[in-house]
Amino acid sequence: MLAISASLAAAILAFLPSASAQSAVWGQCGGQGWTGPLTCVAGSTCTFSNTFYSQCLPDGTVTTTTSVVGAALPTGTSTAKSNTVAKSLGGKLYFGSATDNPELTDTTYKAKLGDNTLFGQITPGNSMKWDATEPQQGVFTFTNGDVIANLSKTNGQLLRGHNCVWYNQLPSWVSSGGFSAAQLTSILQNHTMNVVKHYAGQELHIDAADEDAWDVVNEPFNDDGTVRQFVFSEALNLSYVTTALVAARAADPKAKLYINEYNIDSAGAKSTSMMNLVSSLKAAGTPIDGIGIQGHLIVGQVPSKAALIANYQAFTALGVEIAITELDIRMTLPETPALRAQQQADYTTVISACKAVAGCVGVTIWDYTDKYSWIPGVFSGQGAALPWDDNLAIKPAYDGIIAGFTN
Ligand SMILES: *[C@@H]1O[C@H](CO)[C@@H](O)[C@H](O)[C@H]1NC(C)=O
Ligand SMILES: *[C@@H]1O[C@H](CO)[C@@H](O)[C@H](O)[C@H]1NC(C)=O
Ligand SMILES: *[C@@H]1O[C@H](CO)[C@@H](O)[C@H](O)[C@H]1NC(C)=O
Repeated sequence: MLAISASLAAAILAFLPSASAQSAVWGQCGGQGWTGPLTCVAGSTCTFSNTFYSQCLPDGTVTTTTSVVGAALPTGTSTAKSNTVAKSLGGKLYFGSATDNPELTDTTYKAKLGDNTLFGQITPGNSMKWDATEPQQGVFTFTNGDVIANLSKTNGQLLRGHNCVWYNQLPSWVSSGGFSAAQLTSILQNHTMNVVKHYAGQELHIDAADEDAWDVVNEPFNDDGTVRQFVFSEALNLSYVTTALVAARAADPKAKLYINEYNIDSAGAKSTSMMNLVSSLKAAGTPIDGIGIQGHLIVGQVPSKAALIANYQAFTALGVEIAITELDIRMTLPETPALRAQQQADYTTVISACKAVAGCVGVTIWDYTDKYSWIPGVFSGQGAALPWDDNLAIKPAYDGIIAGFTN
């Protein structure tokens, strides 16, 4: 599980869309193209009939032992390889996954992660964040980040650094140090410079496109589009973004520099603020190469392909590339055939929208298996957000990804 603090969880939960209504007994609760409720009122159970139709059957008319429900879940069937297909048919630079140090002791997990026909890129979930890399002022520790950087090198995968400055997982020596604006600027410069420079020496720079990247700034906005308040923005407003980007470019002139954010999948106040920020950075000549669209989404509530494409194009029209950096599509547990089918369609929607926009360079899922997903630890009762299940077997979501890159 990723180390996500309670305040992040609270921040995210505060902005969750309210749960949609439940279907009545005998009502539809799933099926291709179905946009209504995916759960049933108490006393009935959503039951898979076929790809196009799931129905709320009264309890007692269905066998609901765990083993039967589990056995009935559809699995993935595609034999195509996600990174290979992302490059050959999708026209993208990679399909990748986040990972984290604790789970690398799982040798089966690690072997699949290292298969570069499945994953052409990896992102460290936690080990390059500020609390991991500069836990005390001026004391830099890179051991865990190096493990993941080395893994990418060994396996011929691109590396995405993550991240230089974020309101969360920030050590208290920074947030509670009582520093002046000038001191905070120099602390941020020093941190960004040291961390990015360290990995500049380790990055692979596999191809001419040189798509190793850094999420330099993470989550600068609130969901209403206002500037997120924390120690750096309180003292410096958004000028801290410029400080970090300039330091990162000086430290590694070859890495693509990104600002990474959630809930900017489609148009809205938060997307508008991101566009305004990136336009002003471009106008000022500040180094900025990309916008990371995290893509933490909900089964049955993914924006339409047209809405995604329109927003992706609005971003790339600013003269930057984009990437889907943390994709997962969660559901309220337990998994049902209907939810798995909807999730498959939802993955296709996002991947095919990225495929349709030339400036969308790649897609990263936020770890690849439900076994190590951050979702259940942060969103109580939710999970099953990833294309591989707890046993590392592919789900229909995987077929959805292949279809998105293929069609
Ligand atoms: C900057 O980083 C160096 C290590 O490269 C450290 O010795 C120094 O104390 C740091 N300065 C500040 C102001 O944090
Ligand atoms: C990473 O690889 C470098 C170069 O081979 C090596 O010196 C270093 O010890 C490795 N670090 C870790 C943490 O594995
Ligand atoms: C911070 O910057 C934003 C975006 O430029 C601006 O809208 C806002 O008014 C600024 N806040 C303060 C307190 O200056």
